[in-house]
Amino acid sequence: MALQIRSPLHERESIDIPDKASELSMPFNGTISSPKGDEYFVKNNVIDLLSGTKEKEYSLAQSTNHWRLTASVYEDLWRKRSLSLLTGEEFPIAKEEELLLEWVQPSNSGSYLDVGCSTALYSRLLKKAAPNSRQVALDFSNAMLLEARLKAEADQTDIFFIRADARDMPFFGQTFDGVVMGGTLNELTDELKVLYECRRVLKSDGVMFMMHLIKSSHWGGRFLQESVGVSGIQFWSVNESNTLFERAGFRVEEQITRGIVCFTKLRPA
Ligand SMILES: C[S@@+](CC[C@H](N)C(=O)[O-])C[C@H]1O[C@@H](n2cnc3c(N)ncnc32)[C@H](O)[C@@H]1O
Repeated sequence: MALQIRSPLHERESIDIPDKASELSMPFNGTISSPKGDEYFVKNNVIDLLSGTKEKEYSLAQSTNHWRLTASVYEDLWRKRSLSLLTGEEFPIAKEEELLLEWVQPSNSGSYLDVGCSTALYSRLLKKAAPNSRQVALDFSNAMLLEARLKAEADQTDIFFIRADARDMPFFGQTFDGVVMGGTLNELTDELKVLYECRRVLKSDGVMFMMHLIKSSHWGGRFLQESVGVSGIQFWSVNESNTLFERAGFRVEEQITRGIVCFTKLRPA
C-alpha cells in the first residue's frame, strides 16, 4: 500500500511515497518532492523530512536517543526487560503484544502509525499480526530509525520509516486506523502538542494504544523519578494523564496499571 504524506513546507500539498520505500529487502535511495518542488531525501529507506531543517533543542533524555550506541542496545538490553522491572512482575514482550493486538485489532486493510517508534517494536508486532497492513514508524532520531530498519529487515517486515517531529506530523487529518505510542509520552517536551497531532491524524473510529509510565506511589520511586526529571523525563498520576488525553480530544476506553506502567486504550472523544 503506497503512502501519501503532507508536505512539511506546503500543508495543502501531498507527496506520494512509493511502496518500494517500505520494502526493506532492497535498499531504497532517492528523493521525493511535492508539486511545489520541495524535495526530501530517502536514504536506505528512511524518509528524512528533517534534513536541512534547523536542529531543535533536545532534552538530555531525547539527545541520548540520537546516539548510535543507545540505538543499538536499546531493544535487547532495555526494552525487552524494562516492563518486568517497572511493573514488578514477569512482563515479557509477549504479554504486551497480546494487549496491543487485543486493543488495536490490526486489519490487513488498515494503516497504523508508531509515534516515537525507536526500534519500531510495535510496528513489527502489528505487521506480523496483519501482514498486508500499512505500518508507518516515525521518530526524529536517525540512529533509532536505522536500527529499526535493521530489525524490521531481519524480521522480514515491511515498514515505512519517517524521520519527522511528532509535534508537527507530515500527515493529513484522519490518515490512520490506529496510532500507537510505547513509552514516548514521558520523553516529550510538548506532550499535549504531540497528543493533539495523534488525535488529528487518527480516523474518527480509530484507536490509540498508549503505554506510559506514571508517578510512583512509593517515596523511593518518587525520589528516583524526581532525579531523572532533570534529564527531561516527566511522570503524571493516572488522573493527570487522563486529563491530558481528554484535553487532546480522546476518551479513555480501557486502562490497566501495573506498578508504574499504564496501558490505555483511547478513542476519539
Ligand atoms: C522511550 S523511546 C520509545 C520507545 C518505543 N516506542 C518502544 O515502544 O520501544 C522514545 C522515542 O521517542 C523519540 N522522540 C521523542 N520526542 C520526539 C519527537 N518530538 N518527535 C519524534 N520522535 C520523538 C525519541 O527519539 C525516542 O526514540
